[in-house]
Amino acid sequence: MKNTRRNFIKTAALAGAAVAIRPVPIFANGLPSKKINVAVMGVRSRGLVLAQNFAQMPDTEVTWLCDVDQQYLDAGIADIAKLQKRPPKGEKDIRKVLEDKDLDAIVIAAPDHWHTPAAILGVKAGKHVYVEKPCSHNPREGELLVEAQRKYRRIIHMGNQRRSWPNVVQAMDELHGGVIGKVYFAKGWYANNRQPIGFGKEVPVPPGLDWELWQGPAPRTAYRDNVHPYNWHWFWHWGTGEALNNGTHEIDVARWGMGQEYPSRVVASGGRYHFHDDWEFPDTMVLTFDFEDGRTMTWESRSCNVHPIEGDGRGNLFYGEKGTMLVIGNGYKIYSNDNPVKLLREVKPAEAAANSTNAASPDANLDGVHIKNFLDAVRSGQPSNSPVAEGQKSVLMCQLGNIAWQTGRVLNIDQRNGHIVGDNEAMKSWGREYERGWEPVV
Ligand SMILES: NC(=O)c1ccc[n+]([C@@H]2O[C@H](COP(=O)([O-])OP(=O)(O)OC[C@H]3O[C@@H](n4cnc5c(N)ncnc54)[C@H](O)[C@@H]3O)[C@@H](O)[C@H]2O)c1
Repeated sequence: MKNTRRNFIKTAALAGAAVAIRPVPIFANGLPSKKINVAVMGVRSRGLVLAQNFAQMPDTEVTWLCDVDQQYLDAGIADIAKLQKRPPKGEKDIRKVLEDKDLDAIVIAAPDHWHTPAAILGVKAGKHVYVEKPCSHNPREGELLVEAQRKYRRIIHMGNQRRSWPNVVQAMDELHGGVIGKVYFAKGWYANNRQPIGFGKEVPVPPGLDWELWQGPAPRTAYRDNVHPYNWHWFWHWGTGEALNNGTHEIDVARWGMGQEYPSRVVASGGRYHFHDDWEFPDTMVLTFDFEDGRTMTWESRSCNVHPIEGDGRGNLFYGEKGTMLVIGNGYKIYSNDNPVKLLREVKPAEAAANSTNAASPDANLDGVHIKNFLDAVRSGQPSNSPVAEGQKSVLMCQLGNIAWQTGRVLNIDQRNGHIVGDNEAMKSWGREYERGWEPVV
């Protein structure tokens, strides 16, 4: 078989399907033979890559692009027009897009403060949702999102694409099957060389940008010149810092590999060490999660020092009684616990090496497997590889890490619901204030 992108997605999806557990359907009457119409919200960077990928899926059409900044909307429409028969329609207000009765699903790649509010609007309008990670801006939104998914019985699939990467799925199966014995410590890491964002100045809103809609659910602030695009990631008001921006991926893989639900104790250290500017989150961070069964996980990030660990800017290590597993990209290695260690087995990715720290898409082929899984779930009514109730547990760990860092305290966690125990001050960060009239309501 010729090694085309489509063939790769097909074989990779089959490999994932062989090991996936298929529990109770989300809804009974799927869309088995229907073409799926998709709208993509936020198309400057990640959203454009997703739109390109959706447009190339069989029996799928990107019928809308939605962006509050006209320049990205126009560029996105021109780009997607080259990939399908008709150009998508353009609109800046997602609420208008959701009025389209022929629309089946929305893909949310707007800034983080929009993720849960837009996803709730989406399922209320009867649409399925592919929501980029992190699915929520704060823990309360995660609870609302899970509630909305259960109430409206639509697919809400989070963009933590490793859940569909065939070799990562296989690695997790091997861990669960005891390939390195009991895993008592897992770690994840992320390293990049991000540049400073300076000190923002209040300036007039640039022509073509609807700042009111950009802010949406977030309380209003004057427009400043170092927020949109992209740098909103580093402000609490809209963003969630590196812990959720990139930590979500490796913390999710570590939690998955260890088979954990909620941590019992969360500790955070770090700071904004590298540059002096408006950036409000740590650029260097170590999170430690202890679990009730006496096992431990850590995540290390360096946003401004790119020095790799195990030869890569991101990855996971699992340490067990019988050996160690290293997971990087869509590949893994198993080592013995001899001194010196021996490489016992290596599973190499079939596709070309990914650029692990590319900000828009480390690997479009691998994104495609996760997108195909979402479309399959929309067609069949079966849960996807990344149902939001699971995704939110990993997102919550990252949020707890940020709250532990913000308060400077060790957090103790209620095992029933992930809430912080005995610290009312820390629990104040469980939710957020909304702009009046924009509160998400399930
Ligand atoms: N899964 C992954 O690997 C991955 C990779 C990159 C980014 N992401 C996620 O994708 C999201 C977007 O990140 P980015 O780097 O593309 O950000 P960005 O700032 O470059 O782009 C966001 C786009 O959303 C638009 N936007 C803002 N408010 C909007 C609204 N109300 N309606 C429609 N459009 C709106 C902006 O104009 C901009 O075009 C983030 O949540 C990020 O975490 C995920």
